Amino acid sequence: MTETAIAQVKGRRVWDSRGRPTVEAEVRLTGGAVGRAIAPAGASRGRGEAVDLRDGGDRFGGFDVQTAVAHVNGEIATALCGADAAGQEAVDRILVDLDGTPDKGRLGGNALIAVSMAVAHAAAAAAGEPLWRHLGGEKPGRMPVPQVQIFGGGAHAGRRVDIQDFMVVALAADSFCQALEWTAEVYRAAGRLMEQAGTLQGVADEGGYWPVFATNEEGLETLVRAIEDAGFVPGEQIAVCLDVAASQLGGGGRYRLGLEGREMDSDGLGEMLAGWIERYPIVSIEDPLAEDDEEGFIRFTRAVGGKVQVVGDDFLVTDAGRVRRAAAVGACNAVLVKPNQAGTLSEARAALEAARAAGWGTIVSARSGETEDVTIVHLAVGWDAGQIKVGSFARSERMAKWNEGLRIEESLGPAARFAGREPFP
Ligand code: PGA
Ligand code: ZN
Repeated sequence: MTETAIAQVKGRRVWDSRGRPTVEAEVRLTGGAVGRAIAPAGASRGRGEAVDLRDGGDRFGGFDVQTAVAHVNGEIATALCGADAAGQEAVDRILVDLDGTPDKGRLGGNALIAVSMAVAHAAAAAAGEPLWRHLGGEKPGRMPVPQVQIFGGGAHAGRRVDIQDFMVVALAADSFCQALEWTAEVYRAAGRLMEQAGTLQGVADEGGYWPVFATNEEGLETLVRAIEDAGFVPGEQIAVCLDVAASQLGGGGRYRLGLEGREMDSDGLGEMLAGWIERYPIVSIEDPLAEDDEEGFIRFTRAVGGKVQVVGDDFLVTDAGRVRRAAAVGACNAVLVKPNQAGTLSEARAALEAARAAGWGTIVSARSGETEDVTIVHLAVGWDAGQIKVGSFARSERMAKWNEGLRIEESLGPAARFAGREPFP
């Protein structure tokens, strides 16, 4: 314990992939070990997420985080001094109690998650282990199968198309390394198709191509062509995943596709997506309905949950209680785990364990606002999530994660096991 007691907690302001301020925390233990982590930030956020505390006002569009950083250097540092970094749950309990609000709005979920993750890194460093091994214990987790964005839409591309993420998953690859190789070819092929069509206009927030399409479905058609052009069999070797992020399309059971000028109710949206599942090699759909549309989620999961993964992101906001409730009523069959939605690592892990207990799929996910921080890759392996979602195959805040996965797979050697198709119905 003396070696792993927290001696110092330091917060600082750094910058994320959108050029906005964010919180970095650095934790030093009495034995000299140091851990560091940076909070990410979402753009299409669920209402139930831990509060991302911003200063408001004119500076940096109101996105400054001086208050959150001051909380790290003040109250949080004082409260954690002397606590054992090896006891993550007890540390996170101190953080949650210190904040004292249900939504972490007083100290800021961004302050808390940066500190919580930095403590985990420090404990792993003190044990002389990489974080994934420290979290996973004796039995190494599987290398997660990556969902990789090829076109970015919705809130990440000025709503140029309605669907937020058009992704591929290389489920027949035999390793994480090969999954990235295949994905790289699809990404290149998609870029060539856009160039030939005269619609190559750079990339969206997560590095996927800016989606210059006449309809949402044209995005799907182009994605399937890109898989074929890259030399792969759609559905067999490489399948499609979507994040509809439907909370951005409406609520109260009404939805609007701006690109196509179409309005529909939950069943209309569900039927449109079910039609896509029939016609395209889709294996996973995230947030097909809005966060307030539990009934819609239940009907959609009943209709297609045997064929595809139905993922709750904004709907579940990495909350174990919500996961258990959704599992009880049959809404979704998989959870997206974004640690900053919860606010501490222990709560994020609890959401993942609740999903696992329900027999659900689990996907550890980045946010659209990211940095060089690669903690989530370690979580995906250490917690044996089976799937990871990081954005596209461009921009270094994304590639840093993919590259960390390669290092982890290499260090696992022959013990490495790739999740591949396992997670999908
Ligand atoms: P974000 O959304 O912009 O809130 O990070 C990403 C997602 O919906 O998965
Ligand atoms: Zn999402």
